[in-house]
Amino acid sequence: MSLQQLELPIALQSSTRRLDISYRERLRVLLSSDLDFHGKSSAYASHNFHAFPAKFPPQLPRKFIEGLTEPGDVVLDPMMGSGTTILEAFLTGRRGVGFDIDPMALRLCKVKVTLLALEEIATTGNQVLHRAQKSLQQDGTELRRQLDARFGEAERKFLDYWFLPSTQLELMALIREIERVQDPNIREFLELAFSAIIITKSGGVSMARDLAHTRPHRVQDKTPRPALDEYRKRLSKNLNSLATLARGSGTVELSHGDAQALALRDQTVDLIVTSPPYASNAIDYMRAHKFSLVWFGHSLGSLSQLRRQYIGHDAVTGVELAELPDSARQVVASLARVDPKKARVLHRYYSEMTRCLAEMARVLKPGKAAIVVVGSSKMRGMDTRTDICLGEIGKHIGLELVGIAVRELDRDKRMMPARRIHSSNHSQIEKRMHEEYVIGFLKPESR
Ligand SMILES: C[S@@+](CC[C@H](N)C(=O)[O-])C[C@H]1O[C@@H](n2cnc3c(N)ncnc32)[C@H](O)[C@@H]1O
Repeated sequence: MSLQQLELPIALQSSTRRLDISYRERLRVLLSSDLDFHGKSSAYASHNFHAFPAKFPPQLPRKFIEGLTEPGDVVLDPMMGSGTTILEAFLTGRRGVGFDIDPMALRLCKVKVTLLALEEIATTGNQVLHRAQKSLQQDGTELRRQLDARFGEAERKFLDYWFLPSTQLELMALIREIERVQDPNIREFLELAFSAIIITKSGGVSMARDLAHTRPHRVQDKTPRPALDEYRKRLSKNLNSLATLARGSGTVELSHGDAQALALRDQTVDLIVTSPPYASNAIDYMRAHKFSLVWFGHSLGSLSQLRRQYIGHDAVTGVELAELPDSARQVVASLARVDPKKARVLHRYYSEMTRCLAEMARVLKPGKAAIVVVGSSKMRGMDTRTDICLGEIGKHIGLELVGIAVRELDRDKRMMPARRIHSSNHSQIEKRMHEEYVIGFLKPESR
């Protein structure tokens, strides 16, 4: 945060609840507390099972969940990503409800909140590793045949470009053994660890770098680590984290679904904590996730179709454009003077966010809050003012805007599109790229 604020001691935070200050006031206090969480670890429970770009720190949803809900309340994240909000709801005894359209997000989130018997996973994981090792030593020709049979031409080309032939064989040996595991929960746990050795900051066992930033590029001089060793390490790490998950006492419902049309009844949610995608595809989830999803049987064609449905995608044909409030209309109009095509992309984003916010308003109980965490985007060098525009859009559809807090991103933790600030480049807009905005809305009682 630009101005360091004193955080209320935890004891006082809970006593404010006991003193029954108004819900709106509690929301205000939370928004003006320290939301940076620098130096706080996010490596607890299953939060770090798998890399995911632009996750927010778990302390952020935790703060609003504990400050604004009671055990048993419904906490929604309609764009759950890696499920940070959902896992925090689970750990604090709430009812987490999550939606996303990204197949990787759904896989990841489900495994993160599934309690499993550690010994069974360890035994099955060891069997998978042992059998994969054996088939690599004795069965190379058959593995190569299966590799050819498993993928279409486009997928083969993709794999040949991004993975060394020896790595492809190792991954084939692993996935074949994982798929033989009967218990779906254990299989999904093992599949997630498989994916986690591919999608990493350094590109894991592929020839890519910057995969977890969703900007993969192929590097010639990279020697990928042996996949089986990486898998063993990752499994053991995730097993250790799983051991601490048992403390969770909440329930969770996860669905594939579009945040613009939620399969939820009106006025059923006690709190929303969510972070939507950036405008103009600044973080391109599918670009990274396809590196694993192809191994799980998705075709590249189907994934690129799906990619067009992500909020913030840059295709504009066939997308319904909404009428925007003044601030958003002006930002779109200024951009149109420089680049009309980009302006349509931004209009698409604000239209999609209008529909998301309207859905949030519909499903929230009257008097309850929605916390929307957004970053700013730069298009053609122009700041899209996402915080102000989304604040206005929320008001436009009848939500009360209680406040917008600024949090400073921890560059070492969060995988974001923004670059590091160079001392010669301290313009206002560059600075804003390293901040993020926590927008607090309230649904009026009378709605
Ligand atoms: C910034 S990420 C959320 C990160 C999350 N807060 C976390 O901590 O992991 C935004 C998510 O929105 C999802 N998304 C994009 N379009 C969507 C849509 N139409 N409906 C639901 N989710 C969508 C993306 O797949 C992505 O997982």
